Amino acid sequence: MKILALETSCDETSAAVLQGNMTQPVSVLSNIISSQVAIHAKWGGVVPNLAAREHLKNCIPVINSALEHGKTTLDSIDLFAVTQGPGLIPALLIGTNVAKTLSYFHKKPLIGIHHIEGHIYANLLKTNNDPKKLFPLISLIVSGGHTQLIRMKGHFQYEIIGQTYDDAVGEAFDKVSKMLDLGYPGGPIVSKQAQDFEKSISTIKNKKLKNELLSISFPRPMISSHDFNFSFSGLKTAVLYFMKDMKKRKIGIETMELYKGAICYAFQESATEVLVSKTMDAVKRFTPLTLLVAGGVAANKKLIEKLKESTSELNSVHFVSPKLEYCGDNAAMIGVAAFYRYNALKKANRLKELDNNWKILEADANMKLQKI
Ligand code: KG4
Ligand code: ZN
Repeated sequence: MKILALETSCDETSAAVLQGNMTQPVSVLSNIISSQVAIHAKWGGVVPNLAAREHLKNCIPVINSALEHGKTTLDSIDLFAVTQGPGLIPALLIGTNVAKTLSYFHKKPLIGIHHIEGHIYANLLKTNNDPKKLFPLISLIVSGGHTQLIRMKGHFQYEIIGQTYDDAVGEAFDKVSKMLDLGYPGGPIVSKQAQDFEKSISTIKNKKLKNELLSISFPRPMISSHDFNFSFSGLKTAVLYFMKDMKKRKIGIETMELYKGAICYAFQESATEVLVSKTMDAVKRFTPLTLLVAGGVAANKKLIEKLKESTSELNSVHFVSPKLEYCGDNAAMIGVAAFYRYNALKKANRLKELDNNWKILEADANMKLQKI
């Protein structure tokens, strides 16, 4: 079966063509992403109406490009898939309406996918994953809008066992970057600064400065809370106060740059330590076969390193992370989730539910994960 998937929930317009059957892993024939980062960078964050305008402009060219790269025509598509929510409503409306129109004209079913479901299922695009050995699993969700621990006993059997009370971890990365005037989106910039700082420590000659930089440390919020919830706003505020104090001290530009690297490093250490500690508590408590990580922050090398290290000590759990190209928002992840959802509905004799989606599917900014 061939699937055309669309993703327009935030600031990436993406279309993908996938091919799937039950005997082989789903293959991605094309996955085109048109990023609006440059447009939103000026504002320091995503402006919903600007995002919608760009999606409208880019959606058809991106679909055409996905079809061309996937050597496919619309007539050979068997299933349409789209991110239904959660996300920015003006942005979601563009993708859902384009998908509904395609489904209507081509008389093929349409599936609405939860954005986080897409991030989770991006892990099934790895060819070396055997889906039969996946469950039960624990998934650590780390994106710009979500930080959650989800337990799954089977496909589409979601149980949220913990989540953030305030900021998502990606949001905290973005805000720290903004505080340090480093740019947007902050996650990749902060992690690069942290990595460069770690590499440069040995080259710092001034011992006093070196010790000062290495002594920077931020709280690990809720690390001992004995539950699976998170909080990142206090950590972000701790960075803000540290930065305010720094600005009062009259230090040169070069030293300030070193401080920024050290702050990024210390912040990343705190954030990743809390994520890994809570995740490993969940792994020990629920003894899953697999641990997955999903969402934009899964591109963070430090987080992946720490999770790999902690799971290798346990032996009993298989750790899986998405390929780098599928960590951030993309349509291939929506397509692979749609493939598994379609097959689960088929098995449950519920495919008829998809017939009217061209008419009734509605973008839902606050969509919840749907069990089957
Ligand atoms: O999943 P995603 O692309 O969009 C949402 O669903 O929110 O995640 C975006 C988030 C942003 O906050 C971005 O700064 C963060 O992922 N991010 C990273 C890295 N790459 C992207 N955070 C930390 N380290 C990274 N390397
Ligand atoms: Zn996302």
